[in-house]
Amino acid sequence: MNKSMIAPSLLASDFANLQKEIEMVNQSDADWFHLDIMDGVFVPNISFGMPVIQAIAKYAKKPLDTHLMIVDPDRYIKTFADLGVNHLTVHYEACPHLHRTLQAIKAEGMKAGVAITPHTSVRLLEDTIQDIDIVIVMSVNPGFGGQSFIENTYQKVADLKELINRKNTNTLIEIDGGVNAENAKKLIDIGADVLVAGSFIFKSANPIETIKKLKEEIA
Ligand code: DX5
Ligand code: ZN
Repeated sequence: MNKSMIAPSLLASDFANLQKEIEMVNQSDADWFHLDIMDGVFVPNISFGMPVIQAIAKYAKKPLDTHLMIVDPDRYIKTFADLGVNHLTVHYEACPHLHRTLQAIKAEGMKAGVAITPHTSVRLLEDTIQDIDIVIVMSVNPGFGGQSFIENTYQKVADLKELINRKNTNTLIEIDGGVNAENAKKLIDIGADVLVAGSFIFKSANPIETIKKLKEEIA
Protein backbone atom coordinates (compact mmCIF):
# COMPACT_ATOMS: atom_id res chain seq x y z
CA MET A 1 0.00 0.00 0.00
CA ASN A 2 1.09 3.56 -0.69
CA LYS A 3 2.38 5.66 2.18
CA SER A 4 -0.21 8.23 3.29
CA MET A 5 0.63 11.71 2.11
CA ILE A 6 0.11 15.34 3.11
CA ALA A 7 -0.32 18.14 0.59
CA PRO A 8 -0.24 21.63 2.13
CA SER A 9 -2.50 24.06 0.24
CA LEU A 10 -0.63 27.28 -0.48
CA LEU A 11 -3.98 29.09 -0.62
CA ALA A 12 -3.70 29.51 3.16
CA SER A 13 -0.09 30.66 3.05
CA ASP A 14 1.20 34.22 3.36
CA PHE A 15 1.37 35.40 -0.27
CA ALA A 16 3.57 38.32 0.76
CA ASN A 17 6.18 35.79 1.86
CA LEU A 18 5.57 33.09 -0.69
CA GLN A 19 9.20 32.05 -1.12
CA LYS A 20 9.55 31.57 2.64
CA GLU A 21 6.36 29.50 2.74
CA ILE A 22 7.60 27.32 -0.15
CA GLU A 23 10.94 26.75 1.57
CA MET A 24 9.06 25.74 4.72
CA VAL A 25 7.15 23.07 2.77
CA ASN A 26 10.39 21.96 1.05
CA GLN A 27 11.99 21.39 4.44
CA SER A 28 8.95 19.75 6.03
CA ASP A 29 7.68 16.16 5.94
CA ALA A 30 5.00 17.19 3.42
CA ASP A 31 4.77 15.24 0.17
CA TRP A 32 3.21 17.56 -2.41
CA PHE A 33 2.38 21.23 -2.91
CA HIS A 34 -1.36 21.71 -3.43
CA LEU A 35 -2.17 24.66 -5.71
CA ASP A 36 -5.76 25.92 -5.86
CA ILE A 37 -6.62 27.70 -9.10
CA MET A 38 -9.98 29.53 -9.02
CA ASP A 39 -11.49 31.51 -11.87
CA GLY A 40 -14.35 33.41 -10.24
CA VAL A 41 -16.80 31.56 -12.53
CA PHE A 42 -16.76 27.90 -11.57
CA VAL A 43 -16.32 29.01 -7.96
CA PRO A 44 -17.16 32.41 -6.42
CA ASN A 45 -13.54 33.33 -5.75
CA ILE A 46 -10.34 34.10 -7.68
CA SER A 47 -7.05 32.81 -6.31
CA PHE A 48 -3.95 32.99 -8.50
CA GLY A 49 -2.86 32.01 -11.98
CA MET A 50 0.02 31.26 -14.30
CA PRO A 51 2.63 33.88 -13.27
CA VAL A 52 2.29 32.84 -9.63
CA ILE A 53 2.55 29.14 -10.50
CA GLN A 54 5.70 29.96 -12.44
CA ALA A 55 7.15 31.68 -9.36
CA ILE A 56 6.19 28.73 -7.14
CA ALA A 57 7.71 26.21 -9.58
CA LYS A 58 11.02 28.05 -9.36
CA TYR A 59 11.45 27.15 -5.67
CA ALA A 60 9.24 24.13 -5.04
CA LYS A 61 11.16 20.85 -4.69
CA LYS A 62 8.12 18.56 -4.39
CA PRO A 63 5.40 17.64 -6.91
CA LEU A 64 2.95 20.40 -7.83
CA ASP A 65 -0.54 19.00 -7.26
CA THR A 66 -2.75 21.46 -9.10
CA HIS A 67 -6.49 21.67 -8.46
CA LEU A 68 -8.32 23.55 -11.20
CA MET A 69 -11.59 25.12 -10.08
CA ILE A 70 -12.18 26.66 -13.49
CA VAL A 71 -14.61 26.24 -16.37
CA ASP A 72 -13.33 24.78 -19.63
CA PRO A 73 -9.98 23.59 -18.25
CA ASP A 74 -9.05 21.97 -21.60
CA ARG A 75 -7.90 25.38 -22.86
CA TYR A 76 -4.95 25.42 -20.45
CA ILE A 77 -3.73 21.82 -20.20
CA LYS A 78 -0.57 22.45 -22.21
CA THR A 79 0.12 25.71 -20.40
CA PHE A 80 0.07 23.96 -17.01
CA ALA A 81 2.33 21.19 -18.30
CA ASP A 82 4.81 23.79 -19.58
CA LEU A 83 4.77 25.49 -16.16
CA GLY A 84 6.01 22.25 -14.58
CA VAL A 85 2.76 21.04 -12.98
CA ASN A 86 2.94 17.32 -12.10
CA HIS A 87 -0.68 16.46 -11.32
CA LEU A 88 -3.54 18.26 -13.01
CA THR A 89 -6.99 17.83 -11.49
CA VAL A 90 -10.14 19.09 -13.18
CA HIS A 91 -13.64 19.22 -11.74
CA TYR A 92 -16.14 16.56 -12.83
CA GLU A 93 -18.81 19.28 -12.88
CA ALA A 94 -16.76 21.45 -15.29
CA CYS A 95 -16.02 18.81 -17.94
CA PRO A 96 -18.67 17.71 -20.44
CA HIS A 97 -16.12 15.41 -22.12
CA LEU A 98 -14.22 14.18 -19.11
CA HIS A 99 -12.74 11.11 -20.78
CA ARG A 100 -11.18 13.25 -23.50
CA THR A 101 -9.88 15.77 -20.97
CA LEU A 102 -8.17 13.02 -18.96
CA GLN A 103 -6.44 11.67 -22.06
CA ALA A 104 -5.26 15.18 -22.98
CA ILE A 105 -3.75 15.68 -19.49
CA LYS A 106 -1.88 12.36 -19.71
CA ALA A 107 -0.69 13.13 -23.24
CA GLU A 108 1.12 16.12 -21.71
CA GLY A 109 2.91 13.81 -19.28
CA MET A 110 0.96 14.76 -16.14
CA LYS A 111 -1.03 12.62 -13.72
CA ALA A 112 -4.74 13.14 -14.38
CA GLY A 113 -7.09 13.95 -11.51
CA VAL A 114 -10.83 14.45 -11.14
CA ALA A 115 -12.33 16.45 -8.27
CA ILE A 116 -15.92 15.95 -7.15
CA THR A 117 -17.88 18.52 -5.15
CA PRO A 118 -19.89 17.45 -2.08
CA HIS A 119 -23.06 16.99 -4.17
CA THR A 120 -21.44 14.77 -6.83
CA SER A 121 -21.79 11.04 -6.22
CA VAL A 122 -18.75 8.79 -6.58
CA ARG A 123 -21.03 6.48 -8.60
CA LEU A 124 -20.60 8.91 -11.50
CA LEU A 125 -16.94 7.83 -11.75
CA GLU A 126 -17.90 4.22 -12.47
CA ASP A 127 -17.05 4.52 -16.20
CA THR A 128 -13.89 6.65 -15.90
CA ILE A 129 -12.16 5.38 -12.77
CA GLN A 130 -9.74 3.24 -14.80
CA ASP A 131 -8.50 6.44 -16.50
CA ILE A 132 -8.13 8.50 -13.31
CA ASP A 133 -4.84 8.71 -11.38
CA ILE A 134 -6.22 10.81 -8.52
CA VAL A 135 -9.74 11.54 -7.28
CA ILE A 136 -10.07 14.64 -5.10
CA VAL A 137 -13.08 14.22 -2.86
CA MET A 138 -14.07 17.73 -1.81
CA SER A 139 -14.94 17.77 1.88
CA VAL A 140 -16.07 21.43 1.66
CA ASN A 141 -17.72 23.36 -1.16
CA PRO A 142 -14.84 24.52 -3.35
CA GLY A 143 -13.92 28.19 -3.43
CA PHE A 144 -12.54 29.05 -0.02
CA GLY A 145 -10.09 27.82 2.56
CA GLY A 146 -10.95 27.62 6.24
CA GLN A 147 -14.39 25.98 5.96
CA SER A 148 -15.59 23.13 8.14
CA PHE A 149 -15.34 19.51 7.11
CA ILE A 150 -18.53 17.89 5.76
CA GLU A 151 -19.15 14.62 7.64
CA ASN A 152 -20.74 12.82 4.66
CA THR A 153 -17.22 12.68 3.17
CA TYR A 154 -16.43 9.53 5.18
CA GLN A 155 -19.16 7.58 3.38
CA LYS A 156 -18.00 8.92 0.01
CA VAL A 157 -14.42 7.79 0.69
CA ALA A 158 -15.67 4.32 1.63
CA ASP A 159 -17.79 4.12 -1.56
CA LEU A 160 -14.91 5.33 -3.71
CA LYS A 161 -12.50 2.85 -2.15
CA GLU A 162 -14.99 0.09 -2.90
CA LEU A 163 -15.19 1.22 -6.55
CA ILE A 164 -11.38 1.38 -6.88
CA ASN A 165 -10.98 -2.09 -5.37
CA ARG A 166 -13.75 -3.55 -7.52
CA LYS A 167 -12.24 -2.12 -10.72
CA ASN A 168 -8.72 -2.94 -9.51
CA THR A 169 -7.22 0.47 -10.41
CA ASN A 170 -4.30 2.33 -8.80
CA THR A 171 -6.29 5.54 -8.32
CA LEU A 172 -5.28 7.63 -5.30
CA ILE A 173 -7.95 9.18 -3.07
CA GLU A 174 -7.20 12.75 -1.99
CA ILE A 175 -9.34 14.67 0.51
CA ASP A 176 -9.59 18.43 0.26
CA GLY A 177 -11.16 20.85 2.72
CA GLY A 178 -11.36 21.20 6.48
CA VAL A 179 -8.74 18.53 7.15
CA ASN A 180 -7.26 18.65 10.66
CA ALA A 181 -5.84 16.40 13.39
CA GLU A 182 -9.37 15.30 14.38
CA ASN A 183 -10.41 13.79 11.02
CA ALA A 184 -7.05 12.87 9.41
CA LYS A 185 -6.59 9.38 10.85
CA LYS A 186 -10.19 8.34 10.25
CA LEU A 187 -9.98 9.44 6.59
CA ILE A 188 -6.84 7.37 6.04
CA ASP A 189 -8.33 4.36 7.82
CA ILE A 190 -11.37 4.47 5.51
CA GLY A 191 -9.18 4.57 2.39
CA ALA A 192 -7.78 8.04 1.70
CA ASP A 193 -4.18 8.26 0.42
CA VAL A 194 -3.53 12.01 0.40
CA LEU A 195 -4.82 14.76 2.70
CA VAL A 196 -4.78 18.40 1.61
CA ALA A 197 -4.53 20.85 4.51
CA GLY A 198 -4.46 24.62 4.21
CA SER A 199 -5.54 26.59 7.27
CA PHE A 200 -4.69 23.82 9.70
CA ILE A 201 -1.04 24.00 8.61
CA PHE A 202 -0.42 27.61 7.65
CA LYS A 203 -2.44 29.25 10.43
CA SER A 204 -0.75 27.13 13.08
CA ALA A 205 2.03 28.52 15.28
CA ASN A 206 4.62 26.09 13.89
CA PRO A 207 3.68 24.75 10.43
CA ILE A 208 6.71 22.42 10.16
CA GLU A 209 5.73 20.82 13.46
CA THR A 210 2.05 20.65 12.46
CA ILE A 211 2.97 18.80 9.25
CA LYS A 212 5.22 16.44 11.20
CA LYS A 213 2.43 15.64 13.68
CA LEU A 214 -0.12 15.13 10.90
CA LYS A 215 2.24 12.71 9.17
CA GLU A 216 2.77 10.81 12.42
CA GLU A 217 -0.98 10.73 12.97
CA ILE A 218 -1.60 9.04 9.60
CA ALA A 219 1.54 6.87 9.45
C1 DX5 B 1 -10.98 24.84 -1.44
C2 DX5 B 1 -9.61 24.37 -1.83
C3 DX5 B 1 -8.85 23.74 -0.74
C4 DX5 B 1 -8.54 24.66 0.41
C5 DX5 B 1 -8.31 23.84 1.63
O1 DX5 B 1 -11.66 25.23 -2.57
O2 DX5 B 1 -9.70 23.42 -2.86
O3 DX5 B 1 -7.64 23.17 -1.23
O4 DX5 B 1 -7.43 25.46 0.17
O5 DX5 B 1 -8.17 24.71 2.69
P1 DX5 B 1 -8.51 24.30 4.19
O6 DX5 B 1 -7.60 23.19 4.55
O7 DX5 B 1 -8.27 25.57 4.94
O8 DX5 B 1 -9.97 23.87 4.20
ZN1 ZN C 1 -7.83 22.26 -3.44
